[in-house]
Amino acid sequence: MRFLIRLLGALWLATLLVSGGFAWYEVHQERTRQAEDLQRRAALAADAVREASERLVARGVRNGYERVLTRFGRQDRAIAIYDAYGSVLEASPEVKRSLGPISPLVTEAIQKNQPTRAFAVVNGRTRLVHAVPLQQDDKSIGAAAVLLDAEYLEAGEWDLWQCTAVRFGVLMLLVTGITWVVVRWSVTQPMTRIAEWTRLLKSGQPVAPPPQADASLFGSLATEVTSLARTLARARLAAAEEARLRLVGDSLWTEERLKQFVEIRFGARPIYVVSNREPVSHEQEGRSIVEMRPASGLVTALEPIMLACGGVWVAHGSGTADRVVGERIGLPMDDPAYTLRRVWITEQEEAGYYYGFANEGLWPLCHIVHERPQFRADDWEHYRGVNARFAGTLLEEMEKAESPIVLAQDYHFALLPQLVKQARPDARVALFWHIPWPNFEAFGICPWQEEILLGLLGADLVGFHTQFHCNNFLETVERTIEGRVDWENFTVVRGQHRTWVRPFPISVAPDDAVERVADRAALRAELGITTEWLGVGVERVDYTKGLPERFRALRRFFERWPEYRRRVTFVQIASLSRSRIPRYRALQDEVREAVRSINEELGDRGWQPILYRERHHDHSEIRRYYRAADFCMVTSLHDGMNLVAKEYVAAQGDDDGALILSRFTGASRELRDAYIVNPYDVEDMAAAIRDVVTADPLERHSRMRRMRDHVREYNIYGWAGLLAAELARIPQPSLERG
Ligand code: F6P
Repeated sequence: MRFLIRLLGALWLATLLVSGGFAWYEVHQERTRQAEDLQRRAALAADAVREASERLVARGVRNGYERVLTRFGRQDRAIAIYDAYGSVLEASPEVKRSLGPISPLVTEAIQKNQPTRAFAVVNGRTRLVHAVPLQQDDKSIGAAAVLLDAEYLEAGEWDLWQCTAVRFGVLMLLVTGITWVVVRWSVTQPMTRIAEWTRLLKSGQPVAPPPQADASLFGSLATEVTSLARTLARARLAAAEEARLRLVGDSLWTEERLKQFVEIRFGARPIYVVSNREPVSHEQEGRSIVEMRPASGLVTALEPIMLACGGVWVAHGSGTADRVVGERIGLPMDDPAYTLRRVWITEQEEAGYYYGFANEGLWPLCHIVHERPQFRADDWEHYRGVNARFAGTLLEEMEKAESPIVLAQDYHFALLPQLVKQARPDARVALFWHIPWPNFEAFGICPWQEEILLGLLGADLVGFHTQFHCNNFLETVERTIEGRVDWENFTVVRGQHRTWVRPFPISVAPDDAVERVADRAALRAELGITTEWLGVGVERVDYTKGLPERFRALRRFFERWPEYRRRVTFVQIASLSRSRIPRYRALQDEVREAVRSINEELGDRGWQPILYRERHHDHSEIRRYYRAADFCMVTSLHDGMNLVAKEYVAAQGDDDGALILSRFTGASRELRDAYIVNPYDVEDMAAAIRDVVTADPLERHSRMRRMRDHVREYNIYGWAGLLAAELARIPQPSLERG
């Protein structure tokens, strides 16, 4: 309240000074204007009286003046005529007896033979007196005075001040009202909400944080306090979850447990993640910069780990505004838990290393989808160069760290483990290969297979999603390079160095939120969907994902079971990816055309079989689709794991929903209760859709519950915990830093 009074006091004072100043100026101007007008009128009248009376005075007659007075006198204009001695010859009756006060003025006009002018009170009223000399042969022989009523000048001024006072009053009321509303709305209420929220948190109630307070008003203080409170809430929730799990004897991996585990195993040794894709990119959109989260399973999986354990994440700065925001930033930006270190590469390097060798070479090489890999010497050179650049940046970041832990990610960095390990033998290096590893014959077509294997074997630990991929890798090593594969322990020994090869099926963070019904209805309303069933697919447009096959299956389903037309809608969320590669562009066209023709041929007014949403969706948007959908289709032709399958399952808080899952995904080895399909078999997939829509709800429910329990149990924290445990188990020879 005191703040409000002080603020209002300051505003009132400012308003008073400004409107008072302007009013004074206005009054002054008006008065000057009116006085000038009065003077002009008085001078004109005096000249007229002078002309009419001059001859009379010169002749020395005693009468004839009444005519002059009658002609020029008016109610607001009195006239007086004087002789050379300043004696009144004649004057208007209303002033005749009261001319004493103006005598000096008239005498001055006669003596100086010049007009004189002044305000004077005559007969109780303020008047402007204008006296002119009467002349004969240029000599003064008397005077004529015109007295104009000036009372109204005072009255006008008073009116103006009154008007100003009213204006000021109204302004005060408005300023007070508006200030009160604004202060209440943007200061008092947010502060009260934050205070109330903090109070509830203190009392241990897990309440959702209030919306972010206006940072432009409270500055960084509000942001800091809000994020501090959020951190507290997270910590409390994690602790509560831990306690609950301890009570029920559950050994579920949680964010907090992973944090503790990593601390116990590695002490204060920091974690360094290296990946091509950055967890957050900054994009220039018009004049503002927006944060974008990529459509990447790798990021979905690794970010929770970094949030839990902290550390440094080295990645390619690929956003259009990344350089503006910074090379080294704390993430999340409102409550930093880890550091993102961006590495810059040129467009040419990106074309060779990322689009070329990684995505036109290794990607089709490792995914058996009958897409011919392209191997170009230039691309390979860029791949080597960029691996060396990332290794250099990582070494720079780890400069001061003792025995750092390095978690390198994916097929973009096959050469990095060896480069890092050579420079820092004390580092523990793991590389996780997120895509499948093919059999040795398939891999054998790569002209640089040896270099790739040697690069990978620089790591202490190489991880794949499945044992099958581990076996393929070990067989490739055995048949390609010199070294001993120990099949009993799944290790490769080369000289003094041993590399452990292990399966770590990657997963997602548990999703324990339960809201669904209202959200589901809201999303359907937004999309204008009125059908009984809603299916969803979420993919980057990539030829490994089996999108055309999926649409063929949907078409077949509606053809074979036409009674489901207008009863099922399928929403496809598609994010464009790697569009500089012609094969990806061709696929984008193919997918759009497939959707268009199905909708045209099967759809009718009010119903489209497929809603195709081709744009970037952030994670919270996708989650709404997961929760609203009755079934999800994952139809990859080949996939290391596929996290969309696990995310969909994790999001089914009410254990409803069904998953149609390709048998060629790593996920199909775990999610046995999915409707497993062969994506190359259109009839099989169409039948699976029918099975889903005709399934007994109880059965559907229990299948989903079993899958959900599995994903909850084998979650991303467990994945990271297992990887950390394995890395910590590896004996480290005592080494000097090179
Ligand atoms: O599966 C390999 C992978 O790197 C994933 O981590 C990710 O989902 C996908 O490819 C993303 O590809 P990109 O980073 O090329 O867009």
